[in-house]
Amino acid sequence: MQRFINNLPKAELHLHIEGTFDPELMFEIAKRNQIKIPFSSVEEIRSAYEFNCLQDFLNIYYQGAKVLIQEKDFYDLTYSYLEKCAAQNVRHTEIMFDPQTHTDRGISFKTVITGISKAMEAAKENLNISSLLIMSYLRHLSEEKAFKTLQDSLPFKNLITAVGLDSSEKGNPPSKFKKVFEASIKEGYIPLAHAGEEGNSDYIWEAIDILGIKRIDHGNNALQDKNLIAEIIKRDIALTVCPLSNTALQVVNDLKNHPLKKMMNLGLKVTINSDDPAFFGGQINKNFIELQKALDLTKKEIYELSKNSFQYSLLDTETKFKFLLELETYYSEQNL
Ligand code: ADE
Ligand code: ZN
Repeated sequence: MQRFINNLPKAELHLHIEGTFDPELMFEIAKRNQIKIPFSSVEEIRSAYEFNCLQDFLNIYYQGAKVLIQEKDFYDLTYSYLEKCAAQNVRHTEIMFDPQTHTDRGISFKTVITGISKAMEAAKENLNISSLLIMSYLRHLSEEKAFKTLQDSLPFKNLITAVGLDSSEKGNPPSKFKKVFEASIKEGYIPLAHAGEEGNSDYIWEAIDILGIKRIDHGNNALQDKNLIAEIIKRDIALTVCPLSNTALQVVNDLKNHPLKKMMNLGLKVTINSDDPAFFGGQINKNFIELQKALDLTKKEIYELSKNSFQYSLLDTETKFKFLLELETYYSEQNL
């Protein structure tokens, strides 16, 4: 099973590039930029990764991102993640980045996106990994600030496929960003959002009805509302589920109680993702492996999850088809 998962062609649809920042690389970049961090060793950083809720995690996550200054820092961060994709047979990845975490510290939008995009290009060339970018607005900040970010992004529009919404969910409902999502859609960006991670099912209703999102990041709390489940299925919207993130942030108390199988049985389209792998104890394949063990998932169910990852990606139909064919070939060979 482990080998089946490791070699399975897959796509990752829910990944924050700032959440891939391994302590080793954080130390290296902090040193070369001469930035002080409040930890004296890699072990000390790792032992700080104990969270009771989303906000606990976000405080440390934003702290770590402060060492990213130069274009090369963003390049190294991104390339290092893409190398891990190659090692796990992630064939395509949709990378979220939080420009405001950096522009608020005086780093230019151009520095951030150029570093990330050059790494994506290099990984396409050297590692044969496909990727695209999702620009996420920070929901704890104002809509006005999100508008400024939208404006900053326009010269780089050709590098960005979608917009997302992340950070502290409770108290920051999707409706707060109605106007900036409308404007983002007008610019050609596909709307996505985190919803129903800590927030209740009302937040998911708002995300689909008011923001018009095409995919839900997390969405666990959709299970609170039967009508919502029916609506999500009717609109054919997928949920990007993140098992190890859910247990790390105590959204789910134990992987054995993870609702993924229940979601699948209800007819919801779900995918497996790592969210912030450097902080939550595992890359995408570990998310698959741990959840497979906890829920006793079959190879067929694992295959379905991977199929969803290509099917509900933001790729064009032809490229989706190419990856789905690769997956079919792999799966049929396994069943010989
Ligand atoms: N930013 C990075 N990871 C996040 C998560 N799981 N939820 C909300 N915002 C995030
Ligand atoms: Zn996330």
